[in-house]
Amino acid sequence: MFKKIVLSSDHGGFYLKETVKKFLVNKNFEVDDLGCNSLDPVDYPDYAKSLSDKLKNNKDHGGILFCGTGIGISMAANRFKHIRAALCTTVEMAAKSRKHNDANVLALGGRILDEGLALDIVEEFLKTDFEAGRHSLRVNKI
Ligand code: RB5
Repeated sequence: MFKKIVLSSDHGGFYLKETVKKFLVNKNFEVDDLGCNSLDPVDYPDYAKSLSDKLKNNKDHGGILFCGTGIGISMAANRFKHIRAALCTTVEMAAKSRKHNDANVLALGGRILDEGLALDIVEEFLKTDFEAGRHSLRVNKI
């Protein structure tokens, strides 16, 4: 269970970020929104970096990143050693990314997913724990 959920998005993920933020606040999660705050174009690597910086000193926090596809922002985030960002398009991927990969960041595509599926993915990601055991050895090799 993450202590706080940090959100960060470019303009392509802005609407979905806002939807996910409302969903999490309604469920009483502690949320930290790092932007962006409008549809004005911004560069997704900058938003991946600000979330990565935040998680560096807050190991008990989880993150959710958004861009148009989720691809660029997850690529950028995974350049940071302490980040394991999982780009998920199904609920099963979200569950496995936690159970097997100990993902600490979920990446979503705001122009790819419909809202209902995105929220199901978020819920699954946040309620699922790392299974450790044999998976720890593999995660440690990353
Ligand atoms: C921005 O137009 C778009 O390229 C970005 O949100 C993302 O999809 C990149 O991977």
